[in-house]
Amino acid sequence: MNTQQVRAYHERTKHRLDAYAKGPQYLDWEQQPNPFRRFAGAQVVELALEENPPPAPPFSKEGSQNATSIDFSEPNPASPFAKEGLRGISLLLELSLGLSAWKQYGPDRWALRCNPSSGNLHPTEGYLVATGIDGLGDGVYHYAPHEHALELRGTLTPTDAPPQLLFGLSSIAWREAWKYGERAFRYVQLDVGHALGAIRYAAAALGLQVELLPVTDAEISALLGLDRAGDFTNAEAEHPDMLLRIHSGAAPQPAYLPTINDWYGKANALGGYPHDEWPIIETVTAATTRTRRGEWHSPSSSSENSANPAPQPDLIPLIRQRRSAQAFSSKASTITPATFYQMLTALLPVNGQSPWDVWPLPTRLHPVLFVHRVEGLIPGLYALPRHAQAEIALRAAMNPDFVWQKPEGCPDHLPLYRLLEGDARKAARTISCHQDIASTSAFSLGMLAEFDAGLVDGAHVYRELYWEAGLLGQVLYLEAEAAGVRGTGIGCFFDDVVHEVFGLAGTRFQSLYHFTVGSPVVDARLETLPPYAHLPRECEAHDRS
Ligand SMILES: Cc1cc2nc3c(=O)[nH]c(=O)nc-3n(C[C@H](O)[C@H](O)[C@H](O)COP(=O)(O)O)c2cc1C
Repeated sequence: MNTQQVRAYHERTKHRLDAYAKGPQYLDWEQQPNPFRRFAGAQVVELALEENPPPAPPFSKEGSQNATSIDFSEPNPASPFAKEGLRGISLLLELSLGLSAWKQYGPDRWALRCNPSSGNLHPTEGYLVATGIDGLGDGVYHYAPHEHALELRGTLTPTDAPPQLLFGLSSIAWREAWKYGERAFRYVQLDVGHALGAIRYAAAALGLQVELLPVTDAEISALLGLDRAGDFTNAEAEHPDMLLRIHSGAAPQPAYLPTINDWYGKANALGGYPHDEWPIIETVTAATTRTRRGEWHSPSSSSENSANPAPQPDLIPLIRQRRSAQAFSSKASTITPATFYQMLTALLPVNGQSPWDVWPLPTRLHPVLFVHRVEGLIPGLYALPRHAQAEIALRAAMNPDFVWQKPEGCPDHLPLYRLLEGDARKAARTISCHQDIASTSAFSLGMLAEFDAGLVDGAHVYRELYWEAGLLGQVLYLEAEAAGVRGTGIGCFFDDVVHEVFGLAGTRFQSLYHFTVGSPVVDARLETLPPYAHLPRECEAHDRS
């Protein structure tokens, strides 16, 4: 039953060449829902901001080498934050869900964050559940990115259990539905996948591990207080997404869910009313709720992976500078094969290695590429099956005329195949809701999910497929920054046209997300402002420096 509802939702929210999925007829931008949730009455714990590193030249890897003054010389074997305390937490939050810049155009000003979001609407909320962390009372905290502060939502029953830091994610679908109507649920899930990736990279920068816990949605709701209807009166509810444990990799104890004693704070209403109703979003949300605990074992908590990972401070400037390209220079967008192969290699799930150690679920997403401008590579359609069984299945399911040739010079470890030679720019642009960014780039790609096979395991897998796609997208965003180019997620595409181009019938494989990479053209009309200049304490940080 739930799976049928998911299938019905998926079909109904496909964009088609002759009709987009149902959305609002008209948008009043003045009415955009507030992207910042607050809990009135909750105690606020301000987080310190690091002095800004010397600005790295945009897109320059060299610039990133000495771009941070943070001292990581004391990785802590006992507890992730016993020594670093709030400072480590502050950085973890800033580098994952924090602001990265403000943009201004005329009177309009909007914040960007380290995690991207479809339409910059940011449906994802972050929570910490802290026990035994220096400088932070035991409790459940909501993260307020605009203030870079924690809001105390609940206090915990004292426990003798070891220190633990949990990071919870929830979503407010209304923020996306306001703009995108029925298709919004898909974007919400992609954003969750991006947030997961953002947290993984932030933790990697600090030398920490991230473990996705196999808990139910009801457990997450109870832990984060999302099920406390009285705290959300007249405010949009939040749906639980995932619970992560952050640890230092030193053979952690099994994770535990603490009991919350007292609760504080009332959620703010986000606005955007009056508005159209999209009841199908509630239906698919209910149908995809995870009601059973998962059975996975997180690779990041396995014993062979228990050594303290080395911090990677070089990631910090890349995380802070990450942006979506809004346009590409088609003349300059050619990339080298080394860059191309490096980016694709980063998409392969290597057991126990960041960022894929955060994904204990099956690998079910497989990029198909529109290669436009990669030096020495014949333009055309390509496929990158991310495991051997998928290659067999894709070969059988796709257009039988595809040649499945490994490009000359392609590294042995990379299962990349040319399917068809030709100029794929027009097809890529058309498929991507006619967006130029899909064709003026060096390459763009779609992500084919093992859709039928995934849903056999339960309707909740629908969300997980999107999370995996979002995670792939986040890897591409950061790899693009590291390579001196830039990427953009593409949520708008004509679903079944993609499938036709690759000769796919039925729903065995469904494209869930697209992405494009090239040399960006920066819009000089937009002014860029520092992320936390609006906070008085940022000035203090500057005064100290
Ligand atoms: C799931 C998802 C879908 C997106 N779809 C599109 C798209 O179809 N077209 C586009 O130009 N940008 C798209 N973007 C880019 C967002 O507009 C961008 O992330 C947002 O404006 C925030 O900007 P930033 O990425 O520079 O922080 C998408 C981003 C995400 C995460």
